[in-house]
Amino acid sequence: MATPLTIADLKELAQRRVPKMFFDYADSGAWTESTYRANESDFSRIKLRQRVMVDMTDRTLETTMIGQKVSMPVALAPTGLTGMQHADGEMLAARAAEEFGVPFTLSTMSICSIEDVASVTTRPFWFQLYVMRDKDFVLGLINRAKAAKCSALVLTADLQILGQRHKDLRNGLSAPPRFTPKHVWQMASRPFWCLDMLKTKRRTFGNIIGHAKNVSNITSLAAWTHEQFDPRLSWADVAWIREQWGGPLIIKGVLDPEDARAAADTGADAIVVSNHGGRQLDGAPSSISMLPAIVNAVGDRIEIHLDGGIRSGQDVLKAIALGAKGTYIGRPFLYGLGAMGKEGVTLALGILRKEMDITMALCGKRDINDVNASIISRQGSNR
Ligand code: FNR
Repeated sequence: MATPLTIADLKELAQRRVPKMFFDYADSGAWTESTYRANESDFSRIKLRQRVMVDMTDRTLETTMIGQKVSMPVALAPTGLTGMQHADGEMLAARAAEEFGVPFTLSTMSICSIEDVASVTTRPFWFQLYVMRDKDFVLGLINRAKAAKCSALVLTADLQILGQRHKDLRNGLSAPPRFTPKHVWQMASRPFWCLDMLKTKRRTFGNIIGHAKNVSNITSLAAWTHEQFDPRLSWADVAWIREQWGGPLIIKGVLDPEDARAAADTGADAIVVSNHGGRQLDGAPSSISMLPAIVNAVGDRIEIHLDGGIRSGQDVLKAIALGAKGTYIGRPFLYGLGAMGKEGVTLALGILRKEMDITMALCGKRDINDVNASIISRQGSNR
């Protein structure tokens, strides 16, 4: 393939380079994947207003997310096992994000640890927290994020228990990779991935090593999650987390206006309207379809971000127009990483930036901070 021009191109390349069990891990959703699909397809129902005879010079995509300057309103979402898409994946993606001037969010369930990522970056990144039953362990993670000078804590609210992805079970997903004949075959057919992986020692969960000794495949990961993650997590716990952390707090995984009101009551700095990329409650509505109701409920009280289904700069622009201050991408950067390592993440970000810039101009706007619902075609949209 010539230079990839779209996120779909990067996806195709990643599928060719990454062993099936890890590509499927990134690319799948829960159960029937209906929410995963709706996340993507609902964006295309929203139509943009074409405007003409407007000065389109000197455009800017620069803005802020939780008061922090970003070169465009797109952060890299926290994703588990990113170091299995490409060796040292989290470190590479964090460096690409830093060079691009957008936030990188490190997952609790990452392969590279908080300290690994801190060692290759010079600007603060964000840390995503899953809350375990063992509060000393949670406190340990918060303190490590503080020591690494992370500039936001992203508290994930929508994974007290793990949704089920059929492909992961069928593939026998594991980290570190297992060596059954099927898996050896899958990996042997991806020699470049293997060569990179042989050069690193980072092949299992960097932040939870020691705490996850018995996790060898997805069945044991599900059992471990069930055992460790706190199923009683409630809004009352947010106060404790806020107190321990003491910095900017983002609550991720809010999809309902009532929950959004409760999240705003906690005094958090932002919420992420998200259904975990369709990986948790299959049958839930798409993130973009819930954004207007949530903006209506709490838009004047808390900053609102969105993720799920963003595959183009147009999608980002639509989310901003409907009231999000920023967005996150999960799979788009994972495809780039799997396809081409750090360069692929930079390419994914570049693709989104170019699409966003051109679309903004053709909608008659020059500054992302001036983008609002006026760029949406009410007549043309099928919502
Ligand atoms: C995720 N997501 C996620 N979220 C989180 O808070 N902690 C995590 O560890 C993970 N892990 C994870 C792994 C993979 C492979 C994916 C695809 C997603 C959800 C993620 O942060 C984000 O909400 C979605 O990825 C957004 O949807 P798109 O952009 O992938 O469509």
